[in-house]
Amino acid sequence: MARPERVGTTQGTVSYHGLRDWLDQVEKLGELQKVNGAHWDREMGAITQMLTETGKGKAPAILFDEVPGYPKGYRTLYGQFSTIKRVALTLGLPLEYEHKADIVKAYHHRMEDMKLLKPKIVRTGPIFDNVLEGDKVDVLKLPVPIHHQQDTHRYIGTADMCITKDPDAEWYNFGAYRCEVYDEKTIGCQITEGKHGRIHRDKYFERGQSAKFAIVCGQDPLLYLLSASPLPSGVSEYDFAGGIRGEPVEVVKGPFTGFPIPADAEIVIEGEAVPGQVRPEGPFGEWMGYYSDDVVPRPYLNVKTVLYRNDPILTCAPQHKPVDETGLLKGIAGAAEIWKALEACGLPEILGVWNHEGAPATRFTAIQIRQRYPGHARNVLHVAANCMAGAYNGKWTVVVDDDVDCSDMDQVLWAMGTRFDPMTDIDLIQKAWSSGRDPMFLPGNFNNRILIDACVPYNRKLKGEFPKVVEVPNDVRAQLKAKFPRLFNSQV
Ligand SMILES: Cc1cc2nc3c(=O)[nH]c(=O)nc-3n(C[C@H](O)[C@H](O)[C@H](O)COP(=O)(O)O)c2cc1C
Repeated sequence: MARPERVGTTQGTVSYHGLRDWLDQVEKLGELQKVNGAHWDREMGAITQMLTETGKGKAPAILFDEVPGYPKGYRTLYGQFSTIKRVALTLGLPLEYEHKADIVKAYHHRMEDMKLLKPKIVRTGPIFDNVLEGDKVDVLKLPVPIHHQQDTHRYIGTADMCITKDPDAEWYNFGAYRCEVYDEKTIGCQITEGKHGRIHRDKYFERGQSAKFAIVCGQDPLLYLLSASPLPSGVSEYDFAGGIRGEPVEVVKGPFTGFPIPADAEIVIEGEAVPGQVRPEGPFGEWMGYYSDDVVPRPYLNVKTVLYRNDPILTCAPQHKPVDETGLLKGIAGAAEIWKALEACGLPEILGVWNHEGAPATRFTAIQIRQRYPGHARNVLHVAANCMAGAYNGKWTVVVDDDVDCSDMDQVLWAMGTRFDPMTDIDLIQKAWSSGRDPMFLPGNFNNRILIDACVPYNRKLKGEFPKVVEVPNDVRAQLKAKFPRLFNSQV
């Protein structure tokens, strides 16, 4: 299969080590905002939403300190991934891109080239600075926020990595799953059907066994990014992170679970969920921008150990009406996985994939292709909408031609407005994988989807019958830029 051309250099390396070093580098980029004195009770979440919704892809990462009732130095971090630069820094990719979708291309190439690397077990690490066990267990030693205005509980887990183990394999998975605090020694962990942590937990429950969890709530941003990425079943995010870094992640063994936990993590909570033990979970402001999830009984964790570094940083990502700080993360990491799946199915000439931040995630996925055969566009639509990375809670999947930038909504709308026929270019998928997070979910947690073929009809393209686009060719652009450098300076 012909590989699409590379974007800049993809040979960069991940240049930071750990969350604290990442923060130093983000500060040097001028993208870190420090705020002292915001309250854990809804203020930090509201400030983040206000800065992010107006940020237009340029919002800062926000480090809150001097949280009322907590020692100075006990911090929370919001907004890790609201700029492309910070996602690129995390993945060790070039920081600048002409088109947003180019970073997905660069990440996709990085994944093709890398080898998985297992984590390295070390004896100790800063995560053991403070160890609370037995009666001393108290997750509220940390400045855990109430994030959204209508949440009723504090949530310690949002931008986290919840580690579980497959009972049938040496597979440690981690996923970003939300964790409500019920009291000092009890927390929730909401995992949607089909997610890997849920499958692990359910397997233990089916055998009448408790399921152990290690919840990391402050970690290397790369581990968080992978935690929120739809990696394939059976692949440990640790091995993937090692592959991207080109060196293994250093881990220590959790005292209760025995699970590998990052040696330099900020905060880790270990506990177990017992079959049959449930509590009402929610309400919580959700990623689609609504309080859409019902408050229903869900399994919870009895906390056994709380580990944290001196001056810990609790990482947070309360999602809200788009665009929120996770829009780009899903646009990039989620889209790269869809691209992988399309190629794994043998589909040629995939030039770009983008999950639009405004929808967000798979609610609006656009794929850019160079059409090679009749039905190519339809082929791509059905695979993109139904591969594991594209299937969960999708809504609109759109395919566009090679001359349309799939990450530019204006261009995608232009294609939908001019190359699409409502009678022949729509397919529908019914009863697809959804959840209560979707305000339009159907009984049984299904939803319906729409696939849009916004490519020039292949037969008309082949015969050269489709009208020519009003365009300035690349060579003319280059000549004019060279001739009038000052005129175009601000645009190059
Ligand atoms: C900030 C954030 C919070 C999330 N919260 C949840 C959650 O509470 N439950 C859930 O099932 N998925 C949640 N997700 C999505 C999962 O992290 C994502 O689907 C991931 O791929 C899950 O890992 P897995 O594929 O290994 O199961 C969240 C994602 C982000 C970015």
